[in-house]
Amino acid sequence: MNSNLLRYLLVLLACHAVPGSAFFQSPSLFSRSSHRPSAIVHERRNLLNTNADGTPFLWLPQDEYSGTTFFDRFQFYTDSDPTKGTVTYVNATTAFASRLAYFGDDGTVFMQGDNTTWLPQGTNRNSVRITSNTVYNTGLFILDLNKAPWGCAVWPAFWTLGTGDWPTNGEIDVLEGVHDNEHNQVAFHTLDGCYLTPTVNISGQVVGTNCDANINDNAGCAVTDWSRASYGPYFESQGGGVFAMKWDENGISVWSFFRAAIPQDIISGSPDPSKWGIPSAALDPAGCDIGKYFANHSIIFDITFCGDWAGNSYATTPSCPGTCPERLMDPNNFVNATWSINSLKVYRKQLLIGKITNGSPITQLDWVMLSTWILVGVTTLATLY
Ligand SMILES: *[C@@H]1O[C@H](CO)[C@@H](O)[C@H](O)[C@H]1NC(C)=O
Ligand SMILES: *[C@@H]1O[C@H](CO)[C@@H](O)[C@H](O)[C@H]1NC(C)=O
Ligand SMILES: *[C@@H]1O[C@H](CO)[C@@H](O)[C@H](O)[C@H]1NC(C)=O
Ligand SMILES: *[C@@H]1O[C@H](CO)[C@@H](O)[C@H](O)[C@H]1NC(C)=O
Ligand SMILES: *[C@@H]1O[C@H](CO)[C@@H](O)[C@H](O)[C@H]1NC(C)=O
Repeated sequence: MNSNLLRYLLVLLACHAVPGSAFFQSPSLFSRSSHRPSAIVHERRNLLNTNADGTPFLWLPQDEYSGTTFFDRFQFYTDSDPTKGTVTYVNATTAFASRLAYFGDDGTVFMQGDNTTWLPQGTNRNSVRITSNTVYNTGLFILDLNKAPWGCAVWPAFWTLGTGDWPTNGEIDVLEGVHDNEHNQVAFHTLDGCYLTPTVNISGQVVGTNCDANINDNAGCAVTDWSRASYGPYFESQGGGVFAMKWDENGISVWSFFRAAIPQDIISGSPDPSKWGIPSAALDPAGCDIGKYFANHSIIFDITFCGDWAGNSYATTPSCPGTCPERLMDPNNFVNATWSINSLKVYRKQLLIGKITNGSPITQLDWVMLSTWILVGVTTLATLY
């Protein structure tokens, strides 16, 4: 078989066969999808993506966190808050017993700060911080949520953090905000030597370009999302939406979509970032050696109060009355300090074959991969026709 035939077969399989396969549509993977085969075929035809060097690839489902199993692969963090928040992070037992973590009837996942307890000034308010057991080295992370926590004194984040001594393996803040802000802030924190490239095409506004966590009070290199529906009251009033973070050898990019703007390929479970337009924020390999500064990342959700960001910015936030410590006393101030999550899906990048566009030789690994695809294809055809 020559390489042209191989190439043809590969594209044929990727475009026509893979679609309805049991693997792709497994109900245990994506139980909410209910597409007719014709729609699936149409959708999957556009799935094949290419790297800058011509290597074709797909984003394949790797992990889904949703419904009543959401917390099964997370640990509840109970140490003190490194960002000096006036918070006590509770363990799983306490979180479920006091309904700081619970599920809606439809499987929606909730995490929130304590909204029932009056506290003397200066006392920590209970809340949650969770860390995924799985660590990732690259991936496409797609969070679908109805609400992210907000309100005066509130400071939530959805982020990923490298194992080992911070910030050796890097930190990626995908969704983060304080008070009743309207614009999400994306930030990267690393060791010395990683920079955000100002010329890279992003829709957000660059706040800082040096990602070194040990300077500028750990501001990192940050970008403010252009959309005023990317955090806080407006994000919530739009019914929430999707935050997507793509981390691969081409860099790290973040997109936000309020609910009405979520791309169809995300909804159908076959995400294709190349069709999403310019990202809100991006860290380009031209300014940062991604493989050197980011490794072994866990996924984290947290909600803290006051502390380094919400505490230090409180006095300069006109819409927030009194002081942060005063604000913390009344539980009624925390009724919107809630994560309401539909799902978090992680996709991994599957290269299909080595550099087919410049005609490099077919390797043994490629043959293994090809036979896998033929198998998937045969299964699919049997399912479809
Ligand atoms: C969880 O935290 C509560 C309150 O601090 C404590 O009493 C309990 O022993 C803890 N449970 C576990 C399993 O650590
Ligand atoms: C940014 O986008 C513009 C318009 O799409 C394009 O002309 C330009 O080449 C892009 N710049 C970079 C650095 O990709
Ligand atoms: C990532 O984790 C693996 C497994 O624990 C370890 O062998 C490796 O050294 C870690 N990589 C970095 C850069 O810390
Ligand atoms: C909670 O959200 C509602 C709806 O946007 C708003 O009217 C209310 O003021 C918020 N409360 C707090 C304490 O932030
Ligand atoms: C406070 O939290 C509980 C869950 O612990 C939630 O059911 C309730 O709606 C919240 N109260 C308000 C006023 O949002």
